[in-house]
Order: sequence, then C-alpha cells, then structure tokens
Amino acid sequence: MRILLIGPQGSGKGTQAKLVAERHKIPNISTGDIFRDASALRTDLGMKAEAYMKKGHLVPDEIVTSLVKERVRQKDCRDGFVLDGFPRNISQAKALDKITNLDKVFVLKLSDDLAIKRLSQRRQCKKCKSVYGGIIATRKKGICDKCHGKLYQREDDKPAAIRKRLSIYHKETEPLVDYYKKKGIVHLINANQPVEKIAAEISRHLYHEADMLEL
Ligand code: AP5
Repeated sequence: MRILLIGPQGSGKGTQAKLVAERHKIPNISTGDIFRDASALRTDLGMKAEAYMKKGHLVPDEIVTSLVKERVRQKDCRDGFVLDGFPRNISQAKALDKITNLDKVFVLKLSDDLAIKRLSQRRQCKKCKSVYGGIIATRKKGICDKCHGKLYQREDDKPAAIRKRLSIYHKETEPLVDYYKKKGIVHLINANQPVEKIAAEISRHLYHEADMLEL
C-alpha cells in the first residue's frame, strides 16, 4: 500500500503516519523529519532546509522532490510506504506521479483554531522524535516516556510561523484534495477525534481495501 496523509499542520499526520507504518510494517517517509534530522547533523541539505522551515516557508520543490525520489526507490519501500508531508503542492504531486502511483490518500480535517492550539502545546523528543502535547502528555514533564530524551519546541511552532504555515496549507496544499479526488483515492477523516479512533478508521479502511484486492 502506498499511502499519503494530507491535513493542516497539527491535524495529526505525523502521529498517524507512525501508527500506520508500525501496524502495516511499511516505512514512514516524513519529509519534515528528514529535514529536521539533516538540520541537526548540520548537513548541506539540513542547512538549506532550515532557513525555509524556521520561517514556516516551504523548502523549494526541486530539493524535496529529488529527496523523495531517491527514498521511495529504496528496497524497503517495495511493499509500500506512508508519505507524511509530501506532496504539498500540485507541482510536487505531478512530480510524484512520474515516480510512483498512490493507492490511498487520507485527508485529516481540522479547523485552524484547533490546529493552532495543538501546535502551540506540541513538544517533540530530540532523541527518538516521539511527539507529545494536546491529549498526549508525558509522565515526567519535559522528558520522553519512551527513551527519556529531552523534549523541545519546534522553531516553526512559534505563533508567526504557525500562521504562515497554515496559510500556505490552504493556498498550496488543500488543492491536492481535489487533485486526488479525481483519481478516486481520497478518504476524508474528522481529525477532531481521539488518536486511537482515527488510527482505527484508517486501519479499517486499509484492511477493507486489501480484502477487496484479494477477491
Ligand atoms: P512537517 O514536519 O511535515 O510539519 P507540518 O506539515 O507543518 O505538520 P506538523 O508536523 O506541524 O503537524 P502534524 O499534522 O504532523 O501533527 P502532529 O502529528 O505532530 O514539515 C515541517 C516543514 O518542513 C514545513 O513547514 C516545510 O518548511 C518543510 N517541508 C516538509 N515537507 C515539505 C515539502 N513536501 N515541500 C516543501 N517543504 C517541506 O500532531 C500535532 C500535535 O497534536 C501534537 O502535539 C500531537 O500530540 C497532537 N495530536 C495529534 N493527534 C491528536 C488528536 N487526535 N487529538 C489531540 N491531539 C492530537
């Protein structure tokens, strides 16, 4: 299954992508995580991406597209993958069409007010990248439950960058919903529900699709 998650910032794409990847034993390709890792390692790619990300801007298409192209061609993606954060505009979607076809696109729907509330509370583990905040709290404040790493607030989760990111989402990313609707592969999900309920809805849908393919 080649799956894509679309949704505004804070709708839970990253949270759900990790769950889907674990459950279905396929890689989770998060372009945001790839850029943050590269930035922490101070690589050329990371330094370039960091300048855009800090301000809430998109990293230029050619950088993201060649990165994803290389990633989805790797061996571990043969049985599928979950894409989180790519494509983000029509030009990236067209580039992806030349690399591979998607089987399913889940659109997580959430109001801007709720997205802003979640993002301002979000904290991430420096070490294992687990995400907390909203209803997902840690046992010990500021410390990751899973690996005891330190939690931090993403630079782009500051109010000005959040507003910029949401406006780019509505202008550039939202048109992708119609783009994929025309291909008949979109499933809309209300993202204002508990994490487990959303994960169950995605799984139910994927198992149903798999059954249909076997018939
Ligand atoms: P990226 O890392 O992809 O960030 P994003 O798209 O801005 O999305 P977020 O990570 O903010 O939100 P999310 O939907 O994943 O929510 P999460 O699960 O964390 O990209 C960062 C930057 O990289 C971009 O701005 C851009 O600069 C660059 N970039 C990346 N890809 C690019 C591309 N293709 N082209 C160009 N540039 C690119 O959840 C949010 C919070 O809510 C958490 O605290 C979580 O605990 C909580 N939460 C989750 N689900 C629920 C729930 N159901 N109920 C209550 N709380 C919940």
